Amino acid sequence: MKILITGVAGFIGSHLAEYYLRAGNEVYGVDNFDDFYPLAVKLKNIEPLKANSNFHFFEIDITEYSQFSKLEDRSFDLIVHLAAKAGVRPSIEAPQKYLRTNVTGTLNILEYMRATKCNKLVFASSSSVYGNCKTIPFAESTLTDEPISPYAFSKKSCELLNYNYHHLYNLDILNLRFFTVYGPRQRPDLAIHKFMKKIMNGEPIEMYGDGLSARDYTFIDDTINGIVKAGTYVLNNNGVYDTINLGNSSPVQLSNLISAIEKVTNKKAEVVVKGMQEGDVDITYADISKAKEVIGYDPQTKLEAGLKKFYDWYVMNNAVTA
Ligand SMILES: NC(=O)c1ccc[n+]([C@@H]2O[C@H](COP(=O)([O-])OP(=O)(O)OC[C@H]3O[C@@H](n4cnc5c(N)ncnc54)[C@H](O)[C@@H]3O)[C@@H](O)[C@H]2O)c1
Repeated sequence: MKILITGVAGFIGSHLAEYYLRAGNEVYGVDNFDDFYPLAVKLKNIEPLKANSNFHFFEIDITEYSQFSKLEDRSFDLIVHLAAKAGVRPSIEAPQKYLRTNVTGTLNILEYMRATKCNKLVFASSSSVYGNCKTIPFAESTLTDEPISPYAFSKKSCELLNYNYHHLYNLDILNLRFFTVYGPRQRPDLAIHKFMKKIMNGEPIEMYGDGLSARDYTFIDDTINGIVKAGTYVLNNNGVYDTINLGNSSPVQLSNLISAIEKVTNKKAEVVVKGMQEGDVDITYADISKAKEVIGYDPQTKLEAGLKKFYDWYVMNNAVTA
């Protein structure tokens, strides 16, 4: 199969490319090395991919439609669109940039699909679309009309835009709402990575709120498994437009996360308590019954086991992430 992955130099994209290459596919990867985190980290993410002759990399900024001409019409069987400006808090500082990359960028992917008659798309949405939803666990049927950050707004907008292209041009699309993904190569801005780095360096960590906020941390291998299953589903079915949670359905309170990191690193954290951050939600908690039913998603990794894998990777790769 010929698969296009956008955001391939990122955390999730590089893992997904690795998976599809191992399975013998031809993978085309797009990224613009956005400066959200260091270029060195992204170059290291794609270094092993480049050694595979079935991997083809294109430096393309998805907000510039003219740059898609570099890809030509390659008759892709499937597109997995992961490229985005990620992160809730920074989106409040730079809403225009977030909307341009996430919404205009997605529109350009859809236009490229229309132009090249590729009609199978898996899209990376986010648990943030649920905002401060009071009904837990979060089910896909819940109304998601109250985003509390520009990032959440951008992802919800993309889901709607995807519906529009499904309706107008018969594109088969699955929106996947990821829930705080972690594991080797995790984005350096995310809590597990930040905490591990600071605890390992003997620096204090900042805990926002009273430690009772909770996240449905999902290990990268489980997320990749879900994306691949979603890809197979859109490839094998016609008339598809749907939205599915890819979480772990097992939220962990922030104070418990810190204790678990202390345990795996065998170091005590110095915790500085700060107020809750604007845009942050109290809890994320995925109802994954639909994901199980529709694509056979079945996450396996317990927090302790996933943290241990992240720790082992962190120790081996400390130099580039520091
Ligand atoms: N990691 C998570 O916990 C999580 C949770 C929910 C949703 N998501 C979504 O999953 C996707 C992947 O997340 P990630 O954690 O791997 O993030 P990441 O930042 O590591 O990867 C995103 C990649 O997109 C690239 N990119 C950004 N702007 C671009 C542009 N204009 N043109 C081309 N490439 C561009 C970046 O350079 C980066 O390599 C994103 O869409 C993100 O919003 C992630």
